Amino acid sequence: MPLKIKLRLLTIVLCIVIVVLCIEAYNAIQEDIYDKGPKAQSPEGDNIVIILSGPSYEPGTGTEPEMTQKPMETQKPVGSKKPVSTKPDRTQIPNEEKPNDLNDIAILVNKTNELPSDFVPLNLVKPDVPFVSGAKNNLMRKEAADALERMFDDARKAGFSLYALSGYRRYDNQKQIFNKNIAKYGSIEAANMYSAKPGQSEHQTGLAMDITSAGVKFKLTEAFGDTPEGKWVAANAHRYGFILRYPKGKEQITGYAYEPWHIRFLGEELAARVYHSGLTYEEYLDKAAGNFND
Ligand code: DAL
Ligand code: ZN
Repeated sequence: MPLKIKLRLLTIVLCIVIVVLCIEAYNAIQEDIYDKGPKAQSPEGDNIVIILSGPSYEPGTGTEPEMTQKPMETQKPVGSKKPVSTKPDRTQIPNEEKPNDLNDIAILVNKTNELPSDFVPLNLVKPDVPFVSGAKNNLMRKEAADALERMFDDARKAGFSLYALSGYRRYDNQKQIFNKNIAKYGSIEAANMYSAKPGQSEHQTGLAMDITSAGVKFKLTEAFGDTPEGKWVAANAHRYGFILRYPKGKEQITGYAYEPWHIRFLGEELAARVYHSGLTYEEYLDKAAGNFND
């Protein structure tokens, strides 16, 4: 082959490589933080590949969390509780004009009770609590955000430092996460044990938050349940209106693996009732409807 043609071919190949690299780089920038970390060794639910940079230190312990991708944020809580309405992103603008039952605090969202793809909850705000550095999905319904703040404050006073990681997630965002998990776990069924299909995630209600602690390097991992923070949350979350939505041993009922980090707001009264019943939310509602076989 003449040298001229060879050079041309080489140039074309180089151009293709550069275009592919540019597309990849663009996608990486667009991706949610969940998709950036190294692979986790244990199931980590919706954020199964997270390793995030956390605060620069864990106050009071003097220990330093492992550095990951970038310098860590300060301990100072981020954000305010102002309604998020300044961005042009339509999906984050509260829609007070059109309330509907999908905004009922007690709504059941699971594998058989889906939210419409265009559903965006009312009154999304950013809770004034410490977030893991880089956490992007940091909104919650105002009622839930207020309760989360009280819970984090009381936890801190009791010596437990909690960090929020993932709250409201748009339908499309959940779709992206779920698709990543299919690639990771090899099948839709396997991915669906740890991650909800779009429309089936409580995160789309704005009533759920994934929380973690320095002791598990700010990851979403089952080990969080064995940390002092995880134990405190399991024992106290209901007092602030939250339940642990995916308990250990109830995988067949909830449809998801144990997630000690995923808390769901139901309001204090209902959360306390569900907690004291020892049931999952599905079982509790079934019993309340008189469909319980006992
Ligand atoms: N990890 C929970 C089930 C979710 O994706 O909503
Ligand atoms: Zn979650």
